[in-house]
Amino acid sequence: MPSYLVTGGAGQLGQCFHTVAKEFPETHLFFASRNEVDITRPETLANFYNKNPFDGIINCAAYTMLIRQKKNQESTFKINTEGLQNLIDFAEEKAFNHSFFYRLCF
Ligand SMILES: NC(=O)c1ccc[n+]([C@@H]2O[C@H](COP(=O)([O-])OP(=O)(O)OC[C@H]3O[C@@H](n4cnc5c(N)ncnc54)[C@H](OP(=O)(O)O)[C@@H]3O)[C@@H](O)[C@H]2O)c1
Repeated sequence: MPSYLVTGGAGQLGQCFHTVAKEFPETHLFFASRNEVDITRPETLANFYNKNPFDGIINCAAYTMLIRQKKNQESTFKINTEGLQNLIDFAEEKAFNHSFFYRLCF
């Protein structure tokens, strides 16, 4: 059964995946909170993978809301750009066939 890590699993989009997951019993989703997988800390991603190997990533982690982003541009860059790059690097390293990175308004 293919399995995917859902980063930012506690957020709005992550919760949507939670809701629909039962409709796709042939796919296993690992939902990770920021405490488990912090996308700005690649070692947390590697640790999670070592304990729960997965075949791809669905990234729902982000620093959201324009008002917050304007106030804290450093966090915005660290999470939405560097964090995203960490996930892409990991997906390339593991040669995942499918990964999904949601990003709307940045
Ligand atoms: N909501 C939608 O309808 C929708 C639709 C399409 C695309 N998108 C895109 O999907 C992404 C997520 O949107 P959202 O609405 O779900 O946002 P959200 O509700 O703010 O959720 C973002 C999640 O990311 C987590 N997060 C923040 N920094 C993190 C880090 N360093 N490592 C791991 N997790 C981290 C947050 O955890 P904490 O709560 O601990 O901060 C939170 O659970 C955005 O790029 C958005 O543009 C959203």
